[in-house]
Amino acid sequence: MSEVTTFSATVSATTRDGVLVVTIDNAPVNATSANVRSGIDKALAHAETDPGIKSVVITGAGKTFIGGADINEFGKPAIDPPLPDVIGKIEALSKPVVAALNGAALGGGLELALSCHYRIASPSAQVGLPEVKLGIVPGAGGTQRLPRLIGIPAALDLIASGRIAKAGEALSLGIVDELAEDDLTATAIKAAQKLTATPPRRTGELPVAPADPAEIEKASAKILAKARGQKAPAEAVRLIASSHRPLAEGLADERTTFLALRDSREAAALRHIFFAEREASKVAGLENVETPPVTTLGICGLGLMGSGIAVAALGAGYSVIGLDQTQEAAEKGHERIIGLLERNLASGRLDQSGFDAQKSRLFVTASDADLAPCDLVIEAVFDDLAVKIDLFRRLDKVIRPDAILATNTSYLNPDEIAAATAHPERVLGLHFFSPAHVMRLLEVVRCEKTAPDVLATGLTVAKKLKKLPVVTGVTEGFIGNRIFSAYRREAEYLLEDGALPHEIDAALEDYGFPMGLFAVYDMAGLEIAWARRKRQAATRDPSERYVEIADRLCEAGRLGQKSGRGWYAYPDGKRTIDPEVTAIIETERAKKHITPRSFSKDEITRRMLQAMAAEGETLLVEGIAARPGDIDLVMINGYGFPAHKGGPMFVKN
Ligand code: 3HC
Repeated sequence: MSEVTTFSATVSATTRDGVLVVTIDNAPVNATSANVRSGIDKALAHAETDPGIKSVVITGAGKTFIGGADINEFGKPAIDPPLPDVIGKIEALSKPVVAALNGAALGGGLELALSCHYRIASPSAQVGLPEVKLGIVPGAGGTQRLPRLIGIPAALDLIASGRIAKAGEALSLGIVDELAEDDLTATAIKAAQKLTATPPRRTGELPVAPADPAEIEKASAKILAKARGQKAPAEAVRLIASSHRPLAEGLADERTTFLALRDSREAAALRHIFFAEREASKVAGLENVETPPVTTLGICGLGLMGSGIAVAALGAGYSVIGLDQTQEAAEKGHERIIGLLERNLASGRLDQSGFDAQKSRLFVTASDADLAPCDLVIEAVFDDLAVKIDLFRRLDKVIRPDAILATNTSYLNPDEIAAATAHPERVLGLHFFSPAHVMRLLEVVRCEKTAPDVLATGLTVAKKLKKLPVVTGVTEGFIGNRIFSAYRREAEYLLEDGALPHEIDAALEDYGFPMGLFAVYDMAGLEIAWARRKRQAATRDPSERYVEIADRLCEAGRLGQKSGRGWYAYPDGKRTIDPEVTAIIETERAKKHITPRSFSKDEITRRMLQAMAAEGETLLVEGIAARPGDIDLVMINGYGFPAHKGGPMFVKN
């Protein structure tokens, strides 16, 4: 092996038996920052001119091959050489270049690998072009080279979804040529030596395999419907579907499209979310806190919520002890959980051995004492203070003093629940969203006395459960439901002032919410909010504007879809505007002598967004939410706010 040659601060190489082994070392994810691009550029020039070098291997240091272009460089002045130029030089090199994928090859990282003449992956490697998730299209050849390698339908699937493929799938699709079972670099060197015997196989020179136009049309229509107005997936479809044209033409179109999208508001919004997600788990004061190991979770209450939590926990590898009030209820919970696991088995998300393993880690009981081995107990019982306090008092007697107790309350004050225990410092809130095995958001509630290691453990467990944890302080409804209440209030003001439920819903759906507010209400049922309003009636500030329309609906037995009627009627299950609801609204307006006026969709959306942002500001001032980005994450992942708009706090700026 030769001495190490340094081409830039992040790119170096050694020569082994005529093979230049180039390593990219740009922590944390080997992004193709300017320094990496210039280093590779120099390494290629060196390889081309040094007669002692017969071929090249490119690999990454650490656990990532290349995580993509450097997102931090977006929006800043361009620095030469651009990535497409470097990639073009790799493909054009007269000597064979092998990509040795030691880990994830994403975005620009995969594009770089696609320009190499051969690709070998370690079994833990992953590939993907997730650019659409950042509101852009691949900008360094992905939409043109991938179809040349795997055909248009498979390229459409990968690029338009932005999904990540594991090494095995990458091999079967033809994205990588070989998996290295043992020493990746040694295998890549051998392949590089062998390749000198034949002319390099340049991806850009391959023809795009003919595909059935009807199949492409069908796949494209599906992608566009799912994109709900986002620009990047549509542009990706256009570029991939036209990839049979000359490479240079396709690449030029791709680059222009990439640059225009990169500078769009939509891409800025999705970048904001990307960084907010990574920021969310960085909580001041927890930097050096050690977390105890957690292996066994207790779950109290095996209804829909508890069962969903159990499924997430079993999937994450935890042992689960489920508690319900009677043995019969516990058995029912067991059945429900197994039913959910069976669905995962049927859909292929879980294989038989995974199913068996998860089933073997599930126990249910009606006896509190059986929770003794738990490291963390999550209660998901009826949202009633007396019920929860009684449960926590009982749990206090059976769990270890160092075990953690978590409440899944949505609206109650967890400090009051914690106060009922001998160790309030070991209590926190874990507010899951339903269905808990599907929804990514998890509000982690820092109670008044929650100890730092308890909060840190909550975050660690949340991540292991594959959730997106957002820390919130104690307030009624925490971050999400506080904001939800604020914009629901605004929607009711709009109703009283002249808008109708379907007009408000249409404005929200046009904006990008999957469903309007009143349609969601009907689906969830109106009675829980009604009960809460009745509870709050005695303490409500009489000078505050209060809209009684929802109460009138409930009094008329219109409790939502389950009762066949709510804000809408549901003849044959289909949501329909109901003149009876319009009449109730008109009566309430008349009672308050309000002369209704009409509202444009824009006006409705603006008022709703302003209400969300104003409440968000209050949460920041009160210290309930630490960052505007945390609020945006909650609204996007728990309340259907369209991600490509960036969340209410991003929109405000
Ligand atoms: N550019 C800049 N920083 C990046 C980055 C990127 N492409 N990808 C990740 N990072 C940063 C993160 O912000 C984070 O920084 P922090 O420590 O300061 O918070 C750090 O790297 C670690 O990231 P993760 O916490 O996500 O680390 P993981 O190990 O969990 O995941 C990963 C690694 C799978 C590479 C994941 O980071 C990821 O998915 N990254 C984004 C991949 C992507 O979208 N690539 C496409 C970029 S656009 C592009 O390539 C355009 C091209 O077509 C021209």
